[in-house]
Amino acid sequence: MTVLMAWRDDWAVQIDEVDAEHRALVEQLAAICARFDATARPALSTESRALIDALSELGESTRQHFKREEELMESIGYAEIAAHRTEHAMLMAEYADLIRQWQAEGLSRLDEAAQESVRDWILDHILGADRDFAQAVISSSQPPEDGDR
Ligand SMILES: [Fe+2]
Repeated sequence: MTVLMAWRDDWAVQIDEVDAEHRALVEQLAAICARFDATARPALSTESRALIDALSELGESTRQHFKREEELMESIGYAEIAAHRTEHAMLMAEYADLIRQWQAEGLSRLDEAAQESVRDWILDHILGADRDFAQAVISSSQPPEDGDR
């Protein structure tokens, strides 16, 4: 069975470019889950490579998203940038470990637990530190209150 992996509006951090990228990551994962779902037709011997390639592409999309987020953080002088950068690096390392393990096992299908692992990894990021960062971006783009001038 495919784990339900549709974008939910309450995951939005209310910054259009960030939300669009998060949504694209969720959709990329949903497509992988649909293609390599464990209840789909039996796996072909070539599909382990195809699955690992697809998961690696998702990793690369995420890495590029993290890079753009870090640029955005720099542009607003976000105070917690170092911590957020570290979190991005840890998430990428965690993902690389997972993919290496699956590659070693010759995994060619994603069962429910495997789909959930990748989904939780993405949601850790979207629903975690990004909330604080988004609040800082939104505050930085608002004009100062009268009393602050
Ligand atoms: Fe993000």
